[in-house]
Amino acid sequence: MNPVPVITIDGPSGSGKGTIAGQVAERLGFTLLDSGALYRTLGIASHKQGIDTADEQQLVCLARSLDISFGKRGLGTVILNGEDVSKDIRTKLGSHLASLVGAIPAARDALFERQLQFRQAPGLVADGRDMGTVVFPDAKLKIFLTASVSERAQRRYKQLIDKGIDANLPDLLAELKERDRRDIERPISPLKPAKDALILDSTELTIDQVTEQILSEFSAKTGT
Ligand code: C5P
Repeated sequence: MNPVPVITIDGPSGSGKGTIAGQVAERLGFTLLDSGALYRTLGIASHKQGIDTADEQQLVCLARSLDISFGKRGLGTVILNGEDVSKDIRTKLGSHLASLVGAIPAARDALFERQLQFRQAPGLVADGRDMGTVVFPDAKLKIFLTASVSERAQRRYKQLIDKGIDANLPDLLAELKERDRRDIERPISPLKPAKDALILDSTELTIDQVTEQILSEFSAKTGT
């Protein structure tokens, strides 16, 4: 059994997972794994190299050889082959390509080991879709974070505008619904709560309230 504790935060996009995972990791001094960024970067890398996301073999080769590094905790910087792709991966195209490559089992397998490597002392906070169900089934605490789709679209809109990325609310809402559908309906690693996950609806809660709740659940579980 791996003694390094893991907190998994899964849920649909715009539920606040990313920000909350960052805050929880910061407060506990844990490593952060933004698994969505890996799928996004794989999608963007395939695009840059002209690889069709349906070409499994080439996609797997690419996933295995991806030279990705993440910036300092919480800053959200992603470097691909020496190039800063942090903005590219957050575009509409980046989201779309991520959900295409995420639906390919061989691509998921190829990213699996890479995700396990983030489990380092004193602990890990991992955010994504299948962190509690597939990648870290032995996590100490599993959270499934939801929020209404309109609230999630609003949040995504604000996030993009704040980052200086152009966005349109009705388009974002339609895109979110389509991405939710694809993530929920895919046969491999679909978006669903782990049996032992705590389900939190963040629609009416602030980021800080959710962070505090997760920290207190974790401390209750670990007796710290
Ligand atoms: O979390 P984020 O919105 O950045 O994820 C982008 C896309 O990557 C998701 O819509 C999903 O299709 C895919 N993904 C995944 N499994 C994960 C994380 C993300 O399939 N663990």
